Amino acid sequence: MELCRLTDLLNSTTHNLAALNKSYSASSSVEALGKADHIELLAAARRLVTALEVPEMTILKISKGPAGHAALRTALMLNVFDNWTSEERRSASDLASQTGSEELLLTRIMRTLASIGIFEEQGENTYMHNTLSRALTDVTFRTLIIGLSSTASLTMAKLPEYLASSGFSNPSDPENSLFHYCLETKLNMFQWLKTQPEQLTMFSEFNAAGTRLQASSLKATISALFPKKEPVGTVNAIDTTENLVMMVDIGAGRGRILKEFRRERPDLVGRMIAQDLPEVIAGIAPSNGVETMCHDFFQPQPVEGASVYFFRHILHDWPDVACRQILTNTISALTPNYSEIVIVDQVLPNTGVAPFSAFMDLTMMTFGGMERTEKQWRILLEGVGLSITSIEGPKAGILSLDSTIKASLRV
Ligand SMILES: C[S@@+](CC[C@H](N)C(=O)[O-])C[C@H]1O[C@@H](n2cnc3c(N)ncnc32)[C@H](O)[C@@H]1O
Repeated sequence: MELCRLTDLLNSTTHNLAALNKSYSASSSVEALGKADHIELLAAARRLVTALEVPEMTILKISKGPAGHAALRTALMLNVFDNWTSEERRSASDLASQTGSEELLLTRIMRTLASIGIFEEQGENTYMHNTLSRALTDVTFRTLIIGLSSTASLTMAKLPEYLASSGFSNPSDPENSLFHYCLETKLNMFQWLKTQPEQLTMFSEFNAAGTRLQASSLKATISALFPKKEPVGTVNAIDTTENLVMMVDIGAGRGRILKEFRRERPDLVGRMIAQDLPEVIAGIAPSNGVETMCHDFFQPQPVEGASVYFFRHILHDWPDVACRQILTNTISALTPNYSEIVIVDQVLPNTGVAPFSAFMDLTMMTFGGMERTEKQWRILLEGVGLSITSIEGPKAGILSLDSTIKASLRV
């Protein structure tokens, strides 16, 4: 019964998507579904696959999952995705000579990729690009695969061993995470990256890629913080004096968010400041209207009285004990009834967490961080003297699972 219902639902959706899809573009057709429908359909499709697979198939698929990741990373190293038009069929021998690999090896890698939906087989040892493989010709998508390889993806295999070594307690020591355990270092990931310029570049590119993919929903999120006319608290939210600080992006990475926002809202004249560690700030290209500043968020915030102190994908990197420190250092700079702390991170549902969100949570565990439920956010923020004023759910958009949490000083 459940199977029939799921099949009907998926058939009608596939039909509707095909109608939307005259010129095929995965993102535009999926976006046309709307966020809620999209999430519901994905959950239904997963239930259908699990219902169709016998448990042994599902279990074996999970147990061999890392093979797909490894095949994809090998193919990226070999540049299999490049120099290949959408219409072309390519044979394994042709691809092997293009990439300087042995044909038999290439065949095994390609059939693995085809089995997980990357490339389409057009006959024995013959392949064509499909939507997924075509996406991997784009550096943004490649970076998502490669960017965290050494820091999170490869360390994940040792998670059970590490958890056993600490008696299966939830990792909450920022100085003794899986990362420390696997890399046999006393440095946290960000300190370690400072000593590994190549890895730092990969990590920064990974962050920039994620930001690029979410650019439109992020711009909408930030723009909504500065409504054109409405006052916030006792001071008008729109700074008309150039010296007032409109927004401090704390742990800004390459500062792309503020740069885009400055372009999007030329009506706003206050200062925008991107803060990060010195080695990251050194890699930011200068940009009109966005200042850069070296600041360690474990030290007190030097910019006082800004309208917004913005944290995107920062607090999920850290356990509560470190988050309390970061927040307390920021709170000391807030102007009561005016300044707001704005956090963009996931707010996990209490039940039915999607695989991507759950995997992100365990990825954060590798550094000692975590994705949080609303209850966990409230405990964290209220515990340092903040009140949550609003939580807005994810905006429409393929990768946007983040919520926007606004908090201000509790009065
Ligand atoms: C996951 S990235 C998020 C970057 C950016 N907010 C974004 O949304 O793309 C975490 C950032 O925190 C920065 N960071 C880590 N430790 C820091 C510290 N102690 N003080 C300031 N920034 C730090 C890292 O350099 C990195 O840019």
